Amino acid sequence: MTLNSTFLSLFALISLLSSLSATSSFPSYSSLAGLSERELDEVVAWLPQVLPPSPPPPLKFNGTKLVNDRDHPWKPIRKGDIRGPCPGLNTLASHGYLPRDGVATPSQIIEAVQEGFNMASATARFATYAAHLVDGNLVTDLLSIGGKTRRTGVDPPPPAIVGGLNTHSVFEGDSSMTRGDDFFGDNHSFNQTLFDQFVEYSNKYGGGFYNLATATELRHRRIQESIATNPQFDFTSPRFFTAFAESTFPYTFFVDGRISDRATAGLDMTNATLFFRDSKYPLDFWRPPAPTGGTGALQIFSAYPVAAGRNVDGVNTFTPDPTSADFSNICLLYTNFVNKTVKGLYPNPTGVLRRNLIINLGYFYNAFPGGVGECPEQFPYGTL
Ligand code: HEM
Repeated sequence: MTLNSTFLSLFALISLLSSLSATSSFPSYSSLAGLSERELDEVVAWLPQVLPPSPPPPLKFNGTKLVNDRDHPWKPIRKGDIRGPCPGLNTLASHGYLPRDGVATPSQIIEAVQEGFNMASATARFATYAAHLVDGNLVTDLLSIGGKTRRTGVDPPPPAIVGGLNTHSVFEGDSSMTRGDDFFGDNHSFNQTLFDQFVEYSNKYGGGFYNLATATELRHRRIQESIATNPQFDFTSPRFFTAFAESTFPYTFFVDGRISDRATAGLDMTNATLFFRDSKYPLDFWRPPAPTGGTGALQIFSAYPVAAGRNVDGVNTFTPDPTSADFSNICLLYTNFVNKTVKGLYPNPTGVLRRNLIINLGYFYNAFPGGVGECPEQFPYGTL
């Protein structure tokens, strides 16, 4: 063996070993979005390949019931457990409705939000498959409800493999009620200053409760704040829709199901602290009396109508984006999400990744609340 060939085989061995350690330490729940074709080939070959099962059916018994029960005790998070920007999913994980480590399949998430909060089947499927398509691992069928806190072998992790619901701009977005904008460095942790404002607004507009009146004022306030302070503020679809929808969730899902007219009654601040900060159900907590996706988003929007748009040149340069979906064109929410957002993340998928994209896009379309007839299904990757 010449010195040259010894050197070459040593080099080959080292690169094989380093590629093995890169792939074998790639968490099976990390998103594959943005990986190069070579990286994809390497990682996909190593990952367990799962055929995404059909979504779980709606609940058989869909009335109210005790959900903070003996089978679902709250437990503090352990080292390595993942939590993220969604107080609903965080709570379900901390009570064991979801795997306590914060990594779940779409089916587990749909089952958990139905069982633990009586979220309507279509809403549950729509939100879950949307999130999974942009933030999940489409080969292993796993989604992290936050970021990626386990070792990846790459430090810091490249943005492409950060994965999970913490990923900014594809689902998670700006002007959240209790989480800061990504621009300020942390888009997913409970933010005490913002929560103080949540309490202040609940006192001022809801008599100490977060109800529809509070939601209306606080949503407007958070949008104005982001326009004035975040040079990268983006309020285009899908964030345009999720922001108004999520504003309805605290009085819809975090108020005991035995209370009537929960949108008017609202959420008290002790229980708000438990859900938002501690990921914890109140004692003796019952879920809503019927499946619901939340009501009032359009009312909240209509009180202070705002166009979908973004700050285009620093703070206070909010400019409408006519290409974004808004309440006047809901179908565009679906078509843009599929043809721009998902296709942008996965321009040329092949093999099992393409197959699973097609299957998940089908599940997502079937959940689309705009009605299948009115909005033609899109097939950016063809059919199976
Ligand atoms: C169905 C699956 C769900 C997914 C994939 C999901 C995902 C998310 C994500 C990514 C965010 C962050 C958005 C942002 O503010 O930037 C969020 C926020 C939120 N989620 Fe969920 N969520 C789901 C179900 C639920 C449920 C069942 C509840 C209530 C029980 C809930 C309550 C909320 C609330 C209140 C916020 C707003 C937090 C804030 O603005 O501070 N979500 N969710």
